[in-house]
Amino acid sequence: MERLQKYLARAGVASRRRCEELIKAGLVKVNNQTVTRPGTSIDPAADRVEVAGRPVAGPEEKVYILLNKPAGCVTTLHDPQGRPKVTDLLKNIRVRVYPVGRLDYETEGLLLLTNDGELTYALTHPRHQVKKTYLAWVYGVPPAEKLTLLAKGVMLSDGPAAPAEVHIKGKNKKGALLEITIHEGRKRQVRRMCERIGHPVYRLKRVRLGPLGLGNLHPGEYRFLAPGEVRKLKNLARPAKNR
Ligand code: URA
Repeated sequence: MERLQKYLARAGVASRRRCEELIKAGLVKVNNQTVTRPGTSIDPAADRVEVAGRPVAGPEEKVYILLNKPAGCVTTLHDPQGRPKVTDLLKNIRVRVYPVGRLDYETEGLLLLTNDGELTYALTHPRHQVKKTYLAWVYGVPPAEKLTLLAKGVMLSDGPAAPAEVHIKGKNKKGALLEITIHEGRKRQVRRMCERIGHPVYRLKRVRLGPLGLGNLHPGEYRFLAPGEVRKLKNLARPAKNR
């Protein structure tokens, strides 16, 4: 719920003071009823507000989409090479959404897209150390001492990587399947970390971002986050003492 004059001011009608005057002058209707008391609470998501007979467009609705990104598309919104974009996969989304962080062209898995710039900034800010978990199929089976290097933090060309959580989840003819959790988001970080220990990645998939899991979405499928999931994400981005 929100006070009517604050809602009107946020929607760009006029300053909060001027909106109070408009309300007192009887120019504002909520759900077809004239309201003259400025402190009236409204529900911006449900109530229909008019000023002088013209509907007020509310502040832009926030949209949160969890996509299972397939390999072979870019997360950037413009690609000079004209390759498929993740946003091409979204149908009937009325607002413009942006990816939260990036996945490489070949990387698959969990990608969050939103028009909530504040949340994007918070989730990608190194201060919040939001955990990301990847499944990495690598050539060869790394011995324990190589995994310890990742767990301690390997040196990369742009400085040391922070310690990672690493587990071997399986083995096949080509090598091993590793589960790697990091909280940084440097360019091609997981691929470079594995390369550094001599076990290059041939397939990479992100399966978790903070409290969100990929679930059973197929590649190219997406869903909207539930309000509780959005709350959890916003909570992650708050200083620990306020969580
Ligand atoms: N690390 C990588 O190497 N690539 C990604 O797309 C994400 C993390």
